[in-house]
Amino acid sequence: MNVAVTGGAGFIGSHLTEKLLEKHEVTVVDNLSSGKKELIPENADFLEVDIKNTSKLREVFRGFDAVLHLAANPKVNTFPDDRDKDFEENFEGTKAVLDACQESNVEKLVFTSSSVIYGEDCEIPTPETANFDPISMYGATKAGGEHMCQVYQQILGLDLTIVRLANIVGGRAEKGVTYDFVQKLKEDPEELEILGDGRQKKSYIHVEDTVEGIIAAWESEETVFNIGNEDAIDVTRIAEVVSDEMDLDPDFSYTGGRKGWDGDVPEMRLDIQKLKETGWKPSMNSEEAIRETVKDLK
Ligand SMILES: NC(=O)c1ccc[n+]([C@@H]2O[C@H](COP(=O)([O-])OP(=O)(O)OC[C@H]3O[C@@H](n4cnc5c(N)ncnc54)[C@H](O)[C@@H]3O)[C@@H](O)[C@H]2O)c1
Repeated sequence: MNVAVTGGAGFIGSHLTEKLLEKHEVTVVDNLSSGKKELIPENADFLEVDIKNTSKLREVFRGFDAVLHLAANPKVNTFPDDRDKDFEENFEGTKAVLDACQESNVEKLVFTSSSVIYGEDCEIPTPETANFDPISMYGATKAGGEHMCQVYQQILGLDLTIVRLANIVGGRAEKGVTYDFVQKLKEDPEELEILGDGRQKKSYIHVEDTVEGIIAAWESEETVFNIGNEDAIDVTRIAEVVSDEMDLDPDFSYTGGRKGWDGDVPEMRLDIQKLKETGWKPSMNSEEAIRETVKDLK
């Protein structure tokens, strides 16, 4: 198949492109706002395009069988400063991708959503049938993006897959708690500041397991899938694991409070039974995935 990956120069997109190239012709569509050209695998084609440029995107998408849409402002902890960026990149950007798919006769779209659409009061583990209750602008734009995609599916017959990702870790990550701890400990190996009370407990999944999950979801007949790990790990334990992998023994200090920042969801673990029924399962638990990530990042 001939496929396009928006955001393919980013963390998850570059790993996904690498995996897709085993079976498909892949073109990365990215404006390099947070992505990097050197992350794009050599045998992928690359088009430096902003997804919000609808007329350009229409030309670009012509001839593709499928689009895997990952381009977004992926920072969650940016309200109120990034509210316009979240809206433009995640919401308007997704509408531009949907319109370009329709106008260029792309039949299949994969949309990358997030666990944060469920908010903080959902049952744990959270099934795909749980209500949307986002508490960040990022989460709101992902929830809205899903709704828009489903309208194009229902009215225009778009063949749609939505993947709701937990916290993704692995080499090339340049954000998230594991990355932050590694950077902070490189600067000061004696002391580590932890945002919140350290008891925020979430599920982390390695990017290699994630891209296999995205492809398994894409190849199935169903529309919506959670992708995460079956276990969860708290932030203090992550600090211990990162310190251990870096052979350090820093003092921990806490900024306090249940949340690390406004819009942080203190507890998250997704029910992944639906995707497991396709035969996919994570090869590493949350702690193993974090250990692998530290080895790559340090
Ligand atoms: N990393 C996670 O833990 C996580 C969790 C849940 C969901 N997601 C979602 O997965 C997707 C990929 O996230 P990531 O962590 O790889 O982020 P990333 O920042 O590494 O990658 C995003 C890519 O999109 C590109 N991009 C941004 N705006 C663009 C635009 N207007 N036009 C073209 N390209 C644009 C960037 O240059 C970058 O290469 C995002 O949609 C994100 O919301 C990520």
